[in-house]
Amino acid sequence: MKAARIHAYGALDDIRIEDVPEPVPGLDEVLIRVEAAALNPMDNKLLAGYLKDFFPLAFPYTLGTDLAGTVVATGPLVATVKPGVRVIARTDPTSGGAFAELAAVPARLVVPIPRDLPLLNFAGLPTAAASAWQALFEAAAVQPGQSVLIHAGAGGVGGFAVQLAKLAGAHVTATTSAANLDLVRSLGADQVIDYRNQDFAAFAGAVDLVIDTVGRETLERSLDIIRPGGKVVGLSAPFDTEGPKARGIDAQFLFHESDAGRLAAVAALAADRRLQSVIGQEFALADTVEALRSLSKGGARGKTLVRP
Ligand SMILES: NC(=O)c1ccc[n+]([C@@H]2O[C@H](COP(=O)([O-])OP(=O)(O)OC[C@H]3O[C@@H](n4cnc5c(N)ncnc54)[C@H](OP(=O)(O)O)[C@@H]3O)[C@@H](O)[C@H]2O)c1
Repeated sequence: MKAARIHAYGALDDIRIEDVPEPVPGLDEVLIRVEAAALNPMDNKLLAGYLKDFFPLAFPYTLGTDLAGTVVATGPLVATVKPGVRVIARTDPTSGGAFAELAAVPARLVVPIPRDLPLLNFAGLPTAAASAWQALFEAAAVQPGQSVLIHAGAGGVGGFAVQLAKLAGAHVTATTSAANLDLVRSLGADQVIDYRNQDFAAFAGAVDLVIDTVGRETLERSLDIIRPGGKVVGLSAPFDTEGPKARGIDAQFLFHESDAGRLAAVAALAADRRLQSVIGQEFALADTVEALRSLSKGGARGKTLVRP
């Protein structure tokens, strides 16, 4: 089978599309024929070795954590899912394996999805929607009526966060660039700010909660508009949480972990058509390098997929 692999930490041009032996599912694993694999900025960070203290990779390493496809075989101890079932999963980043024609994944990470709905309604969920869920409902416990500012509302995480915050009954303000204002409004944002031409801090007003996937200055300036007792959840990189706490703002860096329960929760909303997936670009597996290059340039609109 074909797989997008690296043999050391490096750059995009070090990725090889190689012929490799088909994986054999372990005792508690399922073998999945991958139909779509979603990209995440973390893929580029893993490639570069930025995350090696958290997720040390063993080489050769097949990139990709998010996959959607059909189970074709199961290990002898797997009782929860059968061949023929359509599933999504987020693998452990140290294992990767999604940018390939077949992937062996622990059964505990696999979530079945309906056969009668398009696969693309679910393929983008694993990291992005589950991270948005974790930020809003676990890190922050968002409440109906709260005002929430979501940065990068057109991005993978931000697009799902806008929708989930609306479903929770929050008043949602989101930042995005001009080209995506209508898209983010269509996801349910009550107020949309063009961050390149408008000062978000002036337009958003006081808020109870900020979900930030941008970091640095955007995160810093967000603190000025959070009400006392409010909260900021940052996802882009670890940040100083003590400074905000001294100002009466609860601050938390979110570290997303693969969890089928959380993934099942967002998949159920997608199955009910209450959570929409925006698919920005699709690439063939052979063009994985181009796909990751495109993501690394920024300006993603929803999720980018590779289709083995
Ligand atoms: N800690 C965790 O566990 C965790 C989990 C998931 C993601 N993350 C991290 O969160 C970040 C975002 O992930 P993602 O998947 O959402 O990325 P993405 O899909 O690539 O989206 C990034 C978005 O950021 C927007 N953007 C860039 N600069 C901006 C600014 N100054 N203000 C507002 N929007 C801006 C871009 O939109 P425009 O075209 O509108 O500029 C783009 O749509 C990454 O660093 C990722 O690694 C961390």
